[in-house]
Amino acid sequence: IKKIGILTSGGDAPGMNAAIRGVTRYAMYKGLTVEGILRGYDGLIHGDSTALTRRSVGGIIHRGGTLLKTARSEEFRTEEGRQKAYEWLQKNHIDALVVIGGDGSMKGAEKLSALGIPTITIPGTIDNDMPGTEYTLGYDTAVNTVLEAVNRIRDTASSHDRVAIVEVMGRHAGFIALESGMACGAEIVLVPEKKVTLKEVADHLVESHKQWKMSSIVIVAEGAVSGCDVLTYMKQHHPEMNPSLTVLGYLQRGGAPSARDAKMAGLFAQKAVDYLLSGGKDAVIGSIHDKIVATPYTEVDKYKFTIDENEYDLVHALGT
Ligand code: F6P
Repeated sequence: IKKIGILTSGGDAPGMNAAIRGVTRYAMYKGLTVEGILRGYDGLIHGDSTALTRRSVGGIIHRGGTLLKTARSEEFRTEEGRQKAYEWLQKNHIDALVVIGGDGSMKGAEKLSALGIPTITIPGTIDNDMPGTEYTLGYDTAVNTVLEAVNRIRDTASSHDRVAIVEVMGRHAGFIALESGMACGAEIVLVPEKKVTLKEVADHLVESHKQWKMSSIVIVAEGAVSGCDVLTYMKQHHPEMNPSLTVLGYLQRGGAPSARDAKMAGLFAQKAVDYLLSGGKDAVIGSIHDKIVATPYTEVDKYKFTIDENEYDLVHALGT
């Protein structure tokens, strides 16, 4: 292969820029040329791209967001859209495509592979919810962002003796909630993987209250229940606990990547390029048991990871 394309797709995540830089510079170091496709799969369909050079990816390793912009392309979901994308890649002599994105973006890449263009996916999503890897770019930064925010919320919650409910992202997974909950010493963490009723949450808080624990942090993963529902329930049944709600929202998607995200971006990039150059294709790069690996799309379902049961039990044991 001589020329590769690179795009970012789906929700942006800190570390995507570091991965763009890593893929571009490592590919050029190996003698390839690199075309940056703008706005995810939409850019392939509409032929929106720019040649990337060592210089054009300078000064971005520490920046959040994505230089290439991103989108959740509706058109790419259709067969006609994918055919247009494939034809554009052919016309522009792009021999392989590196996609940086989450689960949906990886499924898109797999469909493009089926048309005959080799693709590699680098996991980039704050949710950490992709098969084929225990770690996705952006996750570590998002957890640290939540931690910093909750530490501030705790100051005011404890000054006012309130129950502070904090809703975090994560889509259908509880990784962000559990890891940030562990790190900030939350009393309760609600995750989609574990069903808990609002009455059980309230009972737990009442018990803490009885033991003179006058303020508490409840971290709610958006996929478990809405923070608003927890707030409404608490206000109705336990107004004396003075409950408050903070929805952290898009705050979690921005900011400079953590050291771990920026470093992993470089390692994932190297593996993606090396794998392509060794004849590999149609795979997701990942970290499994601390090793950087490439797993063919057809086998990723063998490597599905979920929240740590011990951490889930421990966060509640320590928070009580
Ligand atoms: O996948 C990343 C993520 O931030 C999820 O945590 C969240 O559910 C979703 O994207 C929000 O998507 P959108 O950017 O379309 O609002």
